[in-house]
Amino acid sequence: MFSAENGVFHAKSKCLKLVDLGCSSGPNTLFIISYILNAIEDLCSKRIHSSDHHLPEFEVFLNDLPDNDFNNLFKLLLNSNVINGSRKRHCFLYGLPGSFYSRLFPSNTLHFAYSSYSLHWLSHVPEGMESTNKENICIARTSPPEVFEAYAKQYQRDFSTFLSLRGEEMIADGRMVLTFRGRSVEDPSCTDLILPISLCFHKHFDMVAQ
Ligand SMILES: C[S@@+](CC[C@H](N)C(=O)[O-])C[C@H]1O[C@@H](n2cnc3c(N)ncnc32)[C@H](O)[C@@H]1O
Repeated sequence: MFSAENGVFHAKSKCLKLVDLGCSSGPNTLFIISYILNAIEDLCSKRIHSSDHHLPEFEVFLNDLPDNDFNNLFKLLLNSNVINGSRKRHCFLYGLPGSFYSRLFPSNTLHFAYSSYSLHWLSHVPEGMESTNKENICIARTSPPEVFEAYAKQYQRDFSTFLSLRGEEMIADGRMVLTFRGRSVEDPSCTDLILPISLCFHKHFDMVAQ
């Protein structure tokens, strides 16, 4: 994914900008960021045959809604190996409060976006649910079909918005990995939510087509 040949990272790219969208306040984001940085550095070392001197620097943005406990996250960071890794690493970490359904970065600046188990959160409850979905606070077995439809439409709108915003923010050859929870049956009120689904996007080929 990050190779000297395909342009996402090349010798002149001194700094890679990454984001975890919906990072929450626990250790998962630190494990995954650490894993991604190690993988990029391993690949760069092999392909470029360079010394550590030529490894990229990293800007890593940890995004979540403003109410997220960013203080806890940055306290955990002190005990993690994200910043240093196994090599001498130049990694700069930033908290990025805001909704991933809004612009978070300037145009064409983001190399890699990652999000796990966050995109099932809608931007808001679909309009009219107070009267239509009376006794429920979300989709439930007793919800009428129009509620299922309203949530599905809201999801389509939100996901399209998400892709279009990231499409503006990412560099031409940027990559994005999204992990969702899914279910093995069609019934949206079913609680069998154990199926992990991962989607990998290459901006140039996949996101433009959305
Ligand atoms: C289930 S947690 C996933 C945490 C972490 N990514 C993981 O894999 O363990 C979902 C996170 O998404 C965040 N989230 C929900 N909607 C969001 C939005 N519009 N913008 C940014 N973060 C959002 C929530 O605040 C929550 O921390």
